Amino acid sequence: KKIVILISGRGSNMQAIVEAAAKQQWPAQIAAVISNRADAGGLEYAASRGIPTAVVVSKQFATREAFDAALQAKIDEFTPDLVVLAGFMRILTAGFVEHYAGRMLNIHPSLLPSFVGLATHQQAIDAGVKVHGVTVHFVTAELDHGPIVAQAVVPVLGDDTEDTLSHRVLEQEHQIYPRAVLQFVEGKLRIDGNRVHISN
Ligand code: GRF
Repeated sequence: KKIVILISGRGSNMQAIVEAAAKQQWPAQIAAVISNRADAGGLEYAASRGIPTAVVVSKQFATREAFDAALQAKIDEFTPDLVVLAGFMRILTAGFVEHYAGRMLNIHPSLLPSFVGLATHQQAIDAGVKVHGVTVHFVTAELDHGPIVAQAVVPVLGDDTEDTLSHRVLEQEHQIYPRAVLQFVEGKLRIDGNRVHISN
């Protein structure tokens, strides 16, 4: 199976997936890491692991549709079975999402359906919730929606800041995202409406 990972920044989730795939000898290969920003820190790591990298600079396209078309063309050069969004900070057009329906995963740093969008940790602190966490889900046209594959929960502590809370959540991200991607690769995920059934 072939996986293409999309990043916009430091790429720690991408790194966790690459390391798990290597260590656990997944029946899958990370075919490419693609960024919409040339300065994404994760590109260097991917290259150091011998993974092909590419950049499709979003700022160079006049419209969202034009960017998504170029991105899709680049992704499809690698003929992936699965596209993994790992800190990819772009809203995607419906056409792009449809093209990868059932084979594109995202990680969102909240317990969906709470706290969609940006600054999720501050949203959680401001809301006063006592638990927070992270969600891996299939991507659908609606932002931060789509059938949920996995979630992990962390406590919100009285003295938490955005920084301390995001760090606690990130540790969980690095656990659940590789696991979910492996389950996909092994053919264990079945989408049934809003729900994802996971076989052993
Ligand atoms: C993660 O918190 C991810 O959930 C969010 O953006 C962050 C990306 O971190 N969407 P990294 O680039 O994987 O280190």
